Amino acid sequence: MIKAIYPGSFDPITNGHLDIIYRASKIFDKIIVVIAENTKKKSLFSTDEKMDMILNVINKGLHNIEVQSFRGLLIDCVRTNKANIILRGMRAISDFEYETQFALINKKMAPEIETVFMVTSTKFSYLNSSIVKEIASLNGCIRELVPPYVEKKLKNKYGFS
Ligand code: PNS
Repeated sequence: MIKAIYPGSFDPITNGHLDIIYRASKIFDKIIVVIAENTKKKSLFSTDEKMDMILNVINKGLHNIEVQSFRGLLIDCVRTNKANIILRGMRAISDFEYETQFALINKKMAPEIETVFMVTSTKFSYLNSSIVKEIASLNGCIRELVPPYVEKKLKNKYGFS
């Protein structure tokens, strides 16, 4: 069985993340979406809130997707799950430097683990959670950027419900 770990801050999950998850679920036997901590970013949502949103928006008809949260080194999470692939979305050339560094440091620490990049669909290539939060915080329209459940949670967070 080929298991892939799809880690991220998911603060919050966007349609771009979902695009990667659904496409990857057709390639790998199992996708484990892991809510991990990025020490460089301060989260808007708690881990429980992120988990709630992901569980609510993921297509329940797909039985090879699991969601977990994890604190610590990602490679430890990959090993605990007996997986050997880290899946990351690559949007544009601007992602390349950060993603390559991330993949290489993980490879240095855990040579048995491979990082696989999936290029984001063109329609989501401009999208990330930070942009969604900025628009939502200014009461802009985020309808096509996140699922309706996440849109509602963002509006509540910023007091626009
Ligand atoms: O969505 P993001 O913020 O780009 O995801 C980054 C994340 C959370 C996957 C990354 O920061 C991570 O793996 N954090 C766990 C700690 C770790 O293993 N860091 C990489 C080695 S320094």
